[in-house]
This record gives sequence, structure tokens and C-alpha cells, in this order.
Amino acid sequence: MRGAAEDMEDVFDKRIAPILEKAMGEISDWPYFRALTPKGPGEVTVEGRPSVMAGCNDYLGLACDPRVTEAAAEAVRRYGASCSGSRSLNGTMVLHEELEHRIAAFLERPAALVTTTGFQANLMLTALLERGDTVFSDMSNHASLVDAVRLSPAARRRYRHRDLDHLERLLSAAGPDTAKLIVTDGLFSMEGDVCPLPGLGTLARRHGARLVVDGAHDIGLLGERGRGVAEHFGLMDAVDLQTGTLSKCFGSLGGFVAGPEHIVRFLRYTARPFVFTAAMSPASAAAALAALTVIETEPDRRQRVFNHAERLHNGLRALGYTTSPSVTPVVPVHIGDELLCLRAWQELLDHGVYTNAVIPPGVPSHRSLIRVTAQATHTEEQITRILDAFAAVGRLLRLVPRGAPDDYEPVDLIRPRHHATAPLPAESP
Ligand SMILES: Cc1ncc(COP(=O)(O)O)c(C=O)c1O
Repeated sequence: MRGAAEDMEDVFDKRIAPILEKAMGEISDWPYFRALTPKGPGEVTVEGRPSVMAGCNDYLGLACDPRVTEAAAEAVRRYGASCSGSRSLNGTMVLHEELEHRIAAFLERPAALVTTTGFQANLMLTALLERGDTVFSDMSNHASLVDAVRLSPAARRRYRHRDLDHLERLLSAAGPDTAKLIVTDGLFSMEGDVCPLPGLGTLARRHGARLVVDGAHDIGLLGERGRGVAEHFGLMDAVDLQTGTLSKCFGSLGGFVAGPEHIVRFLRYTARPFVFTAAMSPASAAAALAALTVIETEPDRRQRVFNHAERLHNGLRALGYTTSPSVTPVVPVHIGDELLCLRAWQELLDHGVYTNAVIPPGVPSHRSLIRVTAQATHTEEQITRILDAFAAVGRLLRLVPRGAPDDYEPVDLIRPRHHATAPLPAESP
């Protein structure tokens, strides 16, 4: 008997999104929270089922690289499994210091600070924002940037995705009396397009705003030496503060901010998501250090990812799929309807290919997509298997027109130029 309490509001009175509940009832093979085991380059088992891995952020194929895994194992033996404390008290190890120096040097920034995740690196921005400040945020920014702004007392203005005219109008309307910060992803994780950095830099200068770029998906991948969108556009100085993750191109776990010495120092002592949490593990720091060496010395990995991405984009377009507007190894295959997208994911898995099904809130409603990613360690044969699976599933679910389309527009990827002086090692181990 709960009596009157039955009529009361209850904070536990919660349900997940109706679309998920509906889909769970209709889709037998669920795309989320599946237990995966890596089985060599580009291969994974999904609860025992062998598949080509076409849905992960380890673009350079470093998470299982023996140099990276051995560095992690050695760090565990030497320093233990955990730092058991925050960086400021007992959690700092020489590995963190070395990683901070190496990241700062790599990104040509005066200083860097490493965090336990990339999400935290972005959340630290709250420390910079005060009441009366205004943040201008791309509508497609990652949740961690969104939450950083939401948690701060600053006013929030969201500009339409990559729309510089809209941003300029919002900046002008804010007036000169507010301190301004523009925040953007470098490479957008779901659509695979990149921020319009030259225009953002111009607007930031014109309106006296600071510019923060989250390089989670582009650092390691874009630019001649892998230093991200800033290097790709030849505009390293346009970015005031760079954030990023170590969980994608670096094949590890952790995040970083890199920028002016006094700001990094301020964040080190002030940013609550950094101060009040345990330090990144020794294994993660050592793995990231080993991965950074590979990123710096093996530029051909970037070329390989882009070669595979080009085959994927053009192969999918030739089948009749739409992959625009991506210009990178994140290849969004537009499906639209949520349930159809989940069915396509399921059929692709049945055809031996693991992808990512992205439905709301990851994308706006009716804009669901299958996210396919290229990896440096994919073989040509694996790329063929991915395309063959899409051909079969496209026919089965009528996602593409019957027969090959008469023509399709080849995608124009933004390729990293080759680093002229770096060695060209053989195919990765
Ligand atoms: C654009 C972007 N920023 C930040 C993050 C957070 O990084 P991490 O996974 O290291 O917390 C992600 C991760 O998905 C991301 O895609």
C-alpha cells in the first residue's frame, strides 16, 4: 500500500526515448552495447560472430598495434594499474608530464594538460566562462562541448551547422560588451565534415572572440603531419585553444587541452572536471606516448586511411547510397527512417560487417545513418567485403535503386599531403 505517495511525482518515473522502446520490440539484433573482441587488424567478433570492423574511431589502427599495447603493459608492470588519485595530489607520474610535453610540442602550443577522458577536456572549458560572457556553438557540436557550455553561467548562442553568416549575425548582435568564445568540433563525428576554420578565424578576430577547436577526430588524421584541421588549413595560429581525445587516433584513453601557458596553468588549478577526478591510468598515458611516436613517424598511415575512405565513399555512391557531405574517413550512409536504419545495421552484421547505427539523439529525427569508418589497417579485401555487404543489404531492404545508378559524383576528400621528409615504412604490423 503506497497510499497518497502513489499520487506524488517520482524522480524515478523515467523511460528511455519512445523510438528506442519501439525499436527494441521490433529489432532482434540490437546495435548498442554489444560485446566486441578485436581479432586482428580490421576484424572483430561480435559475441562470437566474426565481422569486418567498419565502425570504430581507431582510424590509424593503433589500439592493437604491438608497440602501443606493449608500452601499456610495461607501464602497468612498472607503475601499477591505477594512479589512485587526482593529478594535484598523488596522481601525477612522469608519464603524464612527458605526455604533456610531447603533445604541446606536437601541436606547437606553449603548454598542454592531459585529462582522463576527452569529454573532461571539453568540460574544463566551464572554468573559463563567467556570467556575462557569451559562447557561440555550432549546432552539431559534440555533447561534451554542449555540456561545457550548459554547465557554465555564460549565455549560449547556437549557430547553424558550419553557417558563417549565421554566426556573424549572432556575434554582431551580442555587441562589444561581452567576452566571446566560439567553440566547434574540428571534424564532426557523425557527418564527417570539417569546420570552416578560415572563416571562423576571421570572424573571431573581427569580433574579438577566442576560438576553441575540439580535435577529437582530426588530430592524428588531418594535416600533413597529423596536427588536425588547423594544420590542414595552414592556420595553426587561428586556434586559441585546442582540445582533443586520446581514444581515437591515439588508440588509448584520455584527453588534452593545449594552448597558452597561463590558460593551461589556470585550468590545471581551477577546472573542476580536472581537479576533482583521478588521473589517467599509467597504461593509457604510456599507450598514448607510443601512439604519438607512430603518428609522428608514419605519415603513410594517414594516406592509407584516406585511400580506403575514397574507395568506400565512391563504392557506396556507385551503389546508389548517399554519403555526402563527408570529406573524410568518417563515411555517413544516409538512411533516414530510424527503424530502417536499425534493420540495415542488423542485415549488415548478418553479412559480416560491423557498423554504427546512428539514430536520434545522435542525429536529428528522420536523419538516421549508418556510420562507416575507414582504418589504416584495413586491407583492400576487407573494404571489398564492406562494399559487398552494402550492395546485398541495399537490394534486400530496397535502400538503393535497382541496378547501378547511371552516374554518381565522386567524393572530393580533403587528403593530407605527404610529409616529404618522413620515412615510408612498410605495411603496418
Ligand atoms: C567530437 C568529440 N569530442 C569529444 C569526445 C569525447 O572523447 P572521449 O571519448 O575521450 O571522452 C568525443 C567522443 O566521442 C567526440 O566525438
